Amino acid sequence: MVEESNEWLEVCAVSKIGDPGAFGFKVMAGKYPLFGFVVQKEGTVYGYKNVCPHAGRPLDWAPNAFLTKTKDHIMCSAHGAMFELDNGLCVGGPCLGRSLMPWNIEVRNDTVFAEIPPEPVII
Ligand code: FES
Repeated sequence: MVEESNEWLEVCAVSKIGDPGAFGFKVMAGKYPLFGFVVQKEGTVYGYKNVCPHAGRPLDWAPNAFLTKTKDHIMCSAHGAMFELDNGLCVGGPCLGRSLMPWNIEVRNDTVFAEIPPEPVII
């Protein structure tokens, strides 16, 4: 069961993302930092965790540098895996067929909010 926190972080204005474009963010889940990013494609905004399914590394090589030069895919800077903007599916590279982990986001009055996950429980 996925626990909902009902806490949200204001990420940025939709206009700051670009279309297509991407914008990274960090939230604190208790004392743990979690990194994510939002992507806009044709007026719709999607959220993902900034973790590559290949080797668990961050995708961006510089702040907000998540996309290919042509901005038609998300690209991992480590080994070049390519992901679709609107569903996070890997369509090329070492994690072909796997997907980015989605991040629950909402757009309210042209501002993007990301849900803050509850503090992880270490067992
Ligand atoms: S860690 Fe992303 S392609 Fe290897």
